[in-house]
Amino acid sequence: MTGQILTGGRPGLFLTFEGGEGAGKSTQIARLAARLRGAGRPVVTTREPGGSPKAEDIRAALLAGLAKPYGPFAEALLFSAARIDHLDTLIRPALARGETVLCDRFSDSTRAYQGAAGGLEPALLASLERVVVGPTRPDLTLILDLDPAMGLARARARAAADDAPDRFEAEALEFHARLRAAFLAIAAAEPGRCAVIDAGAPPDAVEAAILAAVAARLPALRLSEIPTHSRAEAPHDAA
Ligand code: TYD
Repeated sequence: MTGQILTGGRPGLFLTFEGGEGAGKSTQIARLAARLRGAGRPVVTTREPGGSPKAEDIRAALLAGLAKPYGPFAEALLFSAARIDHLDTLIRPALARGETVLCDRFSDSTRAYQGAAGGLEPALLASLERVVVGPTRPDLTLILDLDPAMGLARARARAAADDAPDRFEAEALEFHARLRAAFLAIAAAEPGRCAVIDAGAPPDAVEAAILAAVAARLPALRLSEIPTHSRAEAPHDAA
């Protein structure tokens, strides 16, 4: 099939974006999606928790804090339940069709939020990940690294004035510092899969760093061959 990319035994490519609050993931996902579409690649953008109707229902409960009283393991199980539906109904079918999937958060968020910051054992989360994700591991994970104080300030600035912080934004700064360390530790442990991007830089510079990482890590996408002036316009929100 023309234009089909075969890596990891499946026709499509799976890229995930990770990082703390306010790191600018959604802006950068929109920009990369526009760039890839401009080059004629079919792209699906999605997010976790959520991405499928059933997973979005679970998202609403999780972000409202309904599972918080049951503890981080129950929360990890609910994030996993949402992930199973998302993988089955959206991610795996798109990868099987040869599409490029860009996902805002995935299982590294469970490792960081429920594991490193929430206190769950890494071995427990590794077992859960084996069962839930199985072979559908990301081909590339872009970790948008940012000082947590700056990230939380950005997240609050973009929220409506009367919006209460969600279940995880409301955690103390120390929780968010543990998250940052956890994402950096994941990147150090899996350098082949992960690239750390300085998300404190201006959005254009962050985009350039992401494009360079994608071109270097996923040559099958042939991103480096696309002249910059042929690039599709991407949205310019600030987050
Ligand atoms: P969201 O508003 O999407 O946050 P962000 O814009 O920072 O991505 O809310 C998702 C929240 O859920 C975020 O605080 C991270 C948290 N989360 C977990 O705790 N565990 C997980 O496995 C995932 C996917 C997200």
